[in-house]
Amino acid sequence: MKKHALKDLSETAHRFFPHYHCFESIDSTNTWLMEHKVPGSICLAKKQTAGRGTKGRKWYSDTPENLYFSFSFTHQNSDRKNKLPPFSLIAGLACCEALDAVGMKGQGIKWPNDIYCYEKKLAGILVEAAHNVNYWVIGIGMNVDSVPENLADNQATFLNNHIKSPVTPEQLASAILNSFTTLYADLNNALQGWDKWDILKGREVLLVTGRDQTKGRVHGLSSDGELIAEINGQLRTVSSGEVSVRNFYKDV
Ligand code: BTN
Repeated sequence: MKKHALKDLSETAHRFFPHYHCFESIDSTNTWLMEHKVPGSICLAKKQTAGRGTKGRKWYSDTPENLYFSFSFTHQNSDRKNKLPPFSLIAGLACCEALDAVGMKGQGIKWPNDIYCYEKKLAGILVEAAHNVNYWVIGIGMNVDSVPENLADNQATFLNNHIKSPVTPEQLASAILNSFTTLYADLNNALQGWDKWDILKGREVLLVTGRDQTKGRVHGLSSDGELIAEINGQLRTVSSGEVSVRNFYKDV
């Protein structure tokens, strides 16, 4: 097999993602893969001029030592109820496991897919899909070597601040893809490791919808990847499209 430009990629990940594109600067790695629609591609950029976060937010992408990358694949949905696989949660798990593999401690997921380390944001994930052609793009932005200028030190942290030997964005991208392909290979059981990385479980949080907000205590994750929370004494399951979670960092 020809050597991959990401040299730390496992053989399985190499087969899954044979195409690699690296840009000095691009608008957004997610946008590029959504436009090109070549499954099995990795797109990594040193800078993004229009990096996108969730909920239409901007993702600051000015530091080449941080990680901005996306990967694409096709997935034929075989679920009888037509439920889509929880790829955004699985990507979060892949990030936590990759961080574990490079020796980090203290990382966890704030449902559905924000990566935190000791209560400070470390990475974000943006999942997009062209459902008519079963084409998926997962984009990950991670603070590897510094905190973006727009965020204060008390809100965000960076990976190399927490480990002995610093890693490069490319090493981290490889570790994430290696974990993702392993989880993908056993999709039905992929969420089994969730509890280990769940930073919300047992916490009282604010569940915010477009219209109102309610306090609830998080019990964990349903088998479909929804959040189970106790609200006014009753267990309820909420989807990430419905609610966002706030005030998770302190017991309210
Ligand atoms: C979030 O808001 O937490 C998600 C941020 C996702 C950022 C990454 S950086 C690589 C990829 N390209 C983008 O434009 N966004 C994602």
